[in-house]
Amino acid sequence: MHRCHTLKYEVQGAAFEYIITAKKGKNSNVGLIQLNRPKVLNALCNGLIMELNQALEAFEEDPAVGAIVLTGGEKAFAAGADIKEMQSHTFQDCYSGRFLSHWDRLTRVKKPIIAAVNGYALGGGCELAMMCDIIYAGEKAQFGQPEILIGTIPEWHAQQPSAPAGAGGTQRLTRAVGKSLAMEMVLTGDRISAQDAKQAGLVSKIFPVETVVEEAIQCAEKIASSSKIITAMAKESVNAAFEMTLAEGVKLEKKLFYSTFATDDQKEGMAAFVEKRKANFKDQ
Ligand code: HXC
Repeated sequence: MHRCHTLKYEVQGAAFEYIITAKKGKNSNVGLIQLNRPKVLNALCNGLIMELNQALEAFEEDPAVGAIVLTGGEKAFAAGADIKEMQSHTFQDCYSGRFLSHWDRLTRVKKPIIAAVNGYALGGGCELAMMCDIIYAGEKAQFGQPEILIGTIPEWHAQQPSAPAGAGGTQRLTRAVGKSLAMEMVLTGDRISAQDAKQAGLVSKIFPVETVVEEAIQCAEKIASSSKIITAMAKESVNAAFEMTLAEGVKLEKKLFYSTFATDDQKEGMAAFVEKRKANFKDQ
């Protein structure tokens, strides 16, 4: 009982210092998380990451929510890890897992997450966007991995060896945009525009600054209208392409495809097609 009460409270946003949460969409089936440290361009301090994780967990457990939108402010999605918090860390702090140990929670969320990016998405901010499943960008968004300019490199820490994370600025970026552009961004720290990011395949769509969040919510609503269990399988299968060989990936895809036939929603979806009506998925 207590847990349910706590989750409801958190989702309403009252418990958070660094983020704002809300439920959006006609059926309130989209969880919106807004990073909210505007004075420091949403620098990702430990407290913010802990709150982000709590909100993700609350939306993951909420049966009404089918997809999540993660956004920031107009000037910055996030300008990276909090440099002031990070600057005095020692190697021992990092290696022992006392630093960045909770940053990969997002990669274990089963529900689809859309990043709606305006302004700067730099360093850990760019990595956070890349951990989402879809990136929509406002037309003035800028993406970059400027860590080289402050004497470090892009990184994503995975606390658990079994976690699918462990790859960020040098890994996800390279897979998204190819070697030459990724290398140029990582070695020079130069930022790329939303237009270049779209051309390179880092983002799927660009919108005017003021509509990108609404467009992301609409996309999330569309995703949330399908079966949640089948959607989670589809997400798992696409993500496997980043973790597995082609042979392993197609094997997993086949198993997941077969598994859909064990669900009520596959029966409902195909019956609805045959009967020329809208499917009524029950997430079973
Ligand atoms: C802490 C930050 C910050 C950051 C900005 N601020 N980015 N604080 N950590 N990453 C703070 C500034 O100190 C300043 O606060 C305020 O935000 C506004 O920033 P300005 O620099 O005055 O704004 P502007 O001149 O418009 O320049 C914007 C900017 C610049 C180009 C984005 O702020 C910048 O270069 N930021 C750092 C970007 C970066 O290097 N990111 C990578 C971090 S390393 P005060 O109080 O001083 O006025 C990283 C590693 C990830 O992310 C590792 C794995 C997770």
